[in-house]
Amino acid sequence: MNELGRNDLCWCGSGKKYKKCHMRADEAGKSAPPQQRRLAPSPLQLDEEGREGMRRAGKFNAQVMDFIRDHVRAGIRTDALDQLVHDYTLEHGAIPATLGYNGYPKSCCISRNEIVCHGIPNDAELRDGDIVNIDLTSIVDGWYGDQSETFLVGAVDEKARALVEATFESMWLGIDAAKPAGRVVEIGRAISKFAHEKGYSVVRDYQGHGIGRVFHQEPGIPHFPDYELGQFVLLPGICFTVEPMINVGDYRTELDRKDGWTVYTKDRSLSAQFEHTVLMTEDGPEILTLTERGPRRGHDFRGGADA
Ligand code: MF3
Ligand code: CO
Ligand code: CO
Repeated sequence: MNELGRNDLCWCGSGKKYKKCHMRADEAGKSAPPQQRRLAPSPLQLDEEGREGMRRAGKFNAQVMDFIRDHVRAGIRTDALDQLVHDYTLEHGAIPATLGYNGYPKSCCISRNEIVCHGIPNDAELRDGDIVNIDLTSIVDGWYGDQSETFLVGAVDEKARALVEATFESMWLGIDAAKPAGRVVEIGRAISKFAHEKGYSVVRDYQGHGIGRVFHQEPGIPHFPDYELGQFVLLPGICFTVEPMINVGDYRTELDRKDGWTVYTKDRSLSAQFEHTVLMTEDGPEILTLTERGPRRGHDFRGGADA
């Protein structure tokens, strides 16, 4: 194949000259494999208008998370939390994306303790010592924002606290590993390396995903090194989620056959999750769903309350 000249436009679609962009990384073998350095610009790459749409959706979704965090405490029913999310979202002119999505019945997912993901809010009350993931997705002017946090309810034992803290850190390591025109596999490699060092397992049955005007789209973002899906190249302008689910015990999951949604750990060990929506830019990942009041990177979950 004919090589790109130093002054040609870079293959990644950044609009910069090759020498100012990927030339050095390519020479060091650190970016996409040669056959993928001629990728036609992908329809998944958002222009500035699309990026602004995603920024607004992410920002609003983070605002919903900051709204609901004050209500997360022992004694509240999870369907009451869902109702609060639902009403707040509509009052602000946005749409809760999960309501009616493939028949899903609620406006968010609330997954406690041994529930991995897609827990359906119900009449059960949060209890002291629970760890509970709240996963929120909003649609703002047709654009999707998607994020989750695991909260500590009251006094949580050390085993659960350590899992939550490690899951949070693993998400950040995954985001860090995403480079402009780098490969998706690096995300899962970073997450699983860290999780395994801590003695945890990484859920394989559910993944992060591309996101935009559609809730779930290409690319799939596995949280372990999947060398097939992992070859996908994260060109600038592509949006995706990083949402590792980390288990204390076995990585395998079991779907509740009665409700068709709730996902448990197969061995009923504890599971935690965090999620952000990320825009890949020419300069690296931009996190679209940062909250104002949630845990920052490096948060010490020993602090007790999350707020
Ligand atoms: N928010 C979840 C995700 O991160 C998806 C929930 S879909 C639902 O991708 F139907 F279960 F709500
Ligand atoms: Co998601
Ligand atoms: Co989500």
